[in-house]
Amino acid sequence: MRLRAFVGALIVLAAVPLSLRSGFAQDCKKIRAGERVYNNYCLTCHGENLVSSGQTFDLRRLRAEDRSRFEISVNNGKGQMPPWKGALTSEEIDQLWHYVRANSHESKPTCRE
Ligand code: HEC
Repeated sequence: MRLRAFVGALIVLAAVPLSLRSGFAQDCKKIRAGERVYNNYCLTCHGENLVSSGQTFDLRRLRAEDRSRFEISVNNGKGQMPPWKGALTSEEIDQLWHYVRANSHESKPTCRE
């Protein structure tokens, strides 16, 4: 009985870092997918690697709490920016958000091997 509890605890301990790792890999997949979407649709105006020339909004300024602002602006367009609703799926917009967040001024770049 005691041995079983011990083995159980070992399994739980071993499983924790694994699940964390797979969560990270999942995010990297999204970030890379978002980079491809960005390069296809957004780079011409918002700049290479999200570095704005100053003519358009610098997406690296967005903060974690700006997600709904991001989605509304991207879907409906803003000023000189066309709306992307219909052109991009909500999955692609989610990937874009992950890419933007991974490279924001607030965070260290990740998934850039
Ligand atoms: C034709 C040029 C152009 C393209 C392509 C473009 N944008 Fe923009 N974007 C702009 C301009 C100009 C602004 C500034 C709008 C304003 O505030 O008047 C802007 C602003 C934004 C903002 C900030 C809006 C806010 O809330 O202030 C976000 C987010 C954004 N763009 C995301 C994207 C994404 C994601 C893509 C690719 C799917 C994209 N843009 C493609 C021109 C563009």
